[in-house]
Amino acid sequence: MLKQLYPQCDVSRPLEGTYLDLNLHQQAKAGDIYIYANYISSLDGRIALYDADLGEYAVPKSIANGRDWRLYQELAGQADVMLTSARYFRQLAAGKAQDLLPVGSGEKYADIKHWRKNQGLKPQPDVMILSNSLDIPLVALEKVQDRKVIVCTGSTDKAKIGILEQAGVQVIRVMSSMVETSRDPSASPRVTGTLVRQRLIDLNYRSAYLIAGPQVHATFIQDACVDALFLTTHFTLLGGTQVSGLVDADLPKAQSLKLISSYLDAENNQIFQRFIYVK
Ligand SMILES: NC(=O)c1ccc[n+]([C@@H]2O[C@H](COP(=O)([O-])OP(=O)(O)OC[C@H]3O[C@@H](n4cnc5c(N)ncnc54)[C@H](OP(=O)(O)O)[C@@H]3O)[C@@H](O)[C@H]2O)c1
Repeated sequence: MLKQLYPQCDVSRPLEGTYLDLNLHQQAKAGDIYIYANYISSLDGRIALYDADLGEYAVPKSIANGRDWRLYQELAGQADVMLTSARYFRQLAAGKAQDLLPVGSGEKYADIKHWRKNQGLKPQPDVMILSNSLDIPLVALEKVQDRKVIVCTGSTDKAKIGILEQAGVQVIRVMSSMVETSRDPSASPRVTGTLVRQRLIDLNYRSAYLIAGPQVHATFIQDACVDALFLTTHFTLLGGTQVSGLVDADLPKAQSLKLISSYLDAENNQIFQRFIYVK
């Protein structure tokens, strides 16, 4: 059971359904989209540590857990599209990432699949990948071939775009007027949150689940383009010097958030909090 701490104290509820009841796919105003992010973090604010064995950043096993994963799945269940990074697909191809994208694989999550069907949603959310390098292994894309895959990029590399299109991917060149000042004149303009949000609206998506790491999160926050943050804080100190936080980039100004709900999961030594980004 979870103990609700805010807005009402001393109310207990089962874990299952805690986020599925939120109907995030119906939160957007007409002609808009609702974008929500989700992270599990340690008490000292780490979402990933560098794993020397993997040669990659990864979510430490000491904080990852099945109860958080259940809520991750409930959030995925309400998404029209999942926003992720090319790096995730590179890790997936190298066998170094968890298979994060399918909703409800396994009996435990069958109710979420059923819920999606009842809501008239597609069996699986579509996938949008942010990438400038366009280094997205086709072998990893095969894992999501049952749905629409879109890549947003500032790159003009025709050869790489052609390979992705050949594999059935829709590549959207996100032209940015905000070309970053770069020492490398051949560098592609980075995709901005405002432009991606607009493309998502143009594609008629109503809810988008941001599951990427700190760079993609920063891309959206920099343009005030995220609506809600779901944060699991596990009561563990991870330490480390090669670490990732929620946002590993400069922000134009400090981003304030407003707490909407808070649940203590004493059984698993963690707290589940939902915030909205103050715009
Ligand atoms: N604890 C958690 O809840 C949680 C959640 C998510 C991720 N993580 C962890 O965090 C680590 C990093 O995750 P991630 O790789 O998804 O991180 P990320 O830092 O968000 O993504 C990095 C990649 O995304 C692309 N990208 C980001 N912003 C872009 C922009 N504005 N324009 C174009 N491309 C952009 C780039 O791809 P190209 O290089 O192809 O250009 C870049 O290499 C991983 O270890 C992951 O496991 C933890």
